[in-house]
Amino acid sequence: MAFATLLVFVALAAYVRAAPAAADPDIAICSDGTIVTSSVCCAFIPLAKDLQDNLFQNECGEDAHESLRLTFHDAIAISQSLGPTASGNSFISSVNAHEDFLVVEAHMLLFPLVEPEFAANNGIDDSVNNLLPFLAKYPAISAGDLVQFAGAVGLSNCPGAPPLEFLAGRPNAVAPAIEGLIPEPQDDVTSILARFADAGGFSPFEVVSLLASHSVARADDVDPTLEAAPFDSTPFTFDTQIFLEVLLAGKGYPGTSDNVGEVESPLPLTSGNDTGQLRLQSDFAIARDLRTSCFWQAFVDEQDLMAVSFQLAMAKLAVLGHNPDDLVDCSNVVPAPSCTVQRRREGFPATKSAKDLELTCLILPFPSLTTDPGATETLIPHCPDGSQDCTEIDFPGPAT
Ligand code: HEM
Repeated sequence: MAFATLLVFVALAAYVRAAPAAADPDIAICSDGTIVTSSVCCAFIPLAKDLQDNLFQNECGEDAHESLRLTFHDAIAISQSLGPTASGNSFISSVNAHEDFLVVEAHMLLFPLVEPEFAANNGIDDSVNNLLPFLAKYPAISAGDLVQFAGAVGLSNCPGAPPLEFLAGRPNAVAPAIEGLIPEPQDDVTSILARFADAGGFSPFEVVSLLASHSVARADDVDPTLEAAPFDSTPFTFDTQIFLEVLLAGKGYPGTSDNVGEVESPLPLTSGNDTGQLRLQSDFAIARDLRTSCFWQAFVDEQDLMAVSFQLAMAKLAVLGHNPDDLVDCSNVVPAPSCTVQRRREGFPATKSAKDLELTCLILPFPSLTTDPGATETLIPHCPDGSQDCTEIDFPGPAT
């Protein structure tokens, strides 16, 4: 299959699965003059400012990353095969038995002593505790809406990120989800793909698209000796480096070597708070598995394709368990992404080149990329401004 044909195919595959919600005829003008599809959307305008001022600090930093991860963990705990009780909605199954969509709500903020304790949610407590004050301050906004909205607002601070769709109106949860529905980095590709398919009919292409999120991601708990170990060399930019760098041969660990779900990374060099790259076993495997490797490779140096594919897959993730027609499109109250991607790299990080690639997709030509100058391995900055110390917001809260 020709490269261009494949790209069209994968983009269309995502598009047909992510039909936009029907327009709400109830047009309203909020007090700041913003025109919205429903007055419901107006409540999110002060919330966006509050989140930016008091949590994200208008940065694509740790708090924005954590909120993006929370959108995934809050949404994916749903199972078509196990039915509504798996997502904590035992009474709803009979009420909505006639509907194609189950009504499922986010649970993490409403049951902060339960779901954050699940092994797969290790580290999610920070984002839960950080959003709980906003849940209390904006009682008209449901927990599920807050989680998805905060993720979209935080991501708007990441250069290169697409604007995320935001639909409002998720009802509040009645019970926590069961354990075992969130993929873990030690899971094999077959079980990861099966979990995404069971949660919401995600295709392998959509799974790879969602993993663009790991472009703005760092691990605090995979290696317990490390905090903020980045998954690529540009963790504050929503760019395609994750798709390139996970294809490079691993050479070492940024911390200890015996952690579950971690494999060797190509850039483990650490200096002070500048922690070396940490590679998840699941990212490594998905980049090389024949069911997913061509989708992975197709995103290398293809910013627009990656961004739109992620945007469409996120639109599907954010409404899992809900009928989009029951929700209101409030996308225009999500702040517009601040700027387009400014490439920090020309391609390969210093000292790396095409000879370090481990490619299993043999039907796509690999783009021609140059290597950043420098004779030493790339150090990955700890803070968005390149400094060693940056402020992270950590509100106290019940989740641990
Ligand atoms: C195969 C599926 C996935 C697996 C196994 C996985 C696993 C992980 C792990 C182990 C971490 C590190 C957590 C820590 O130690 O602090 C992480 C971080 C993260 N993940 Fe995923 N993830 C997956 C999919 C996703 C998806 C679909 C999204 C969002 C749409 C996402 C967004 C993030 C973000 C933003 C972070 C960084 C959090 C931070 O910097 O604090 N992940 N992921």
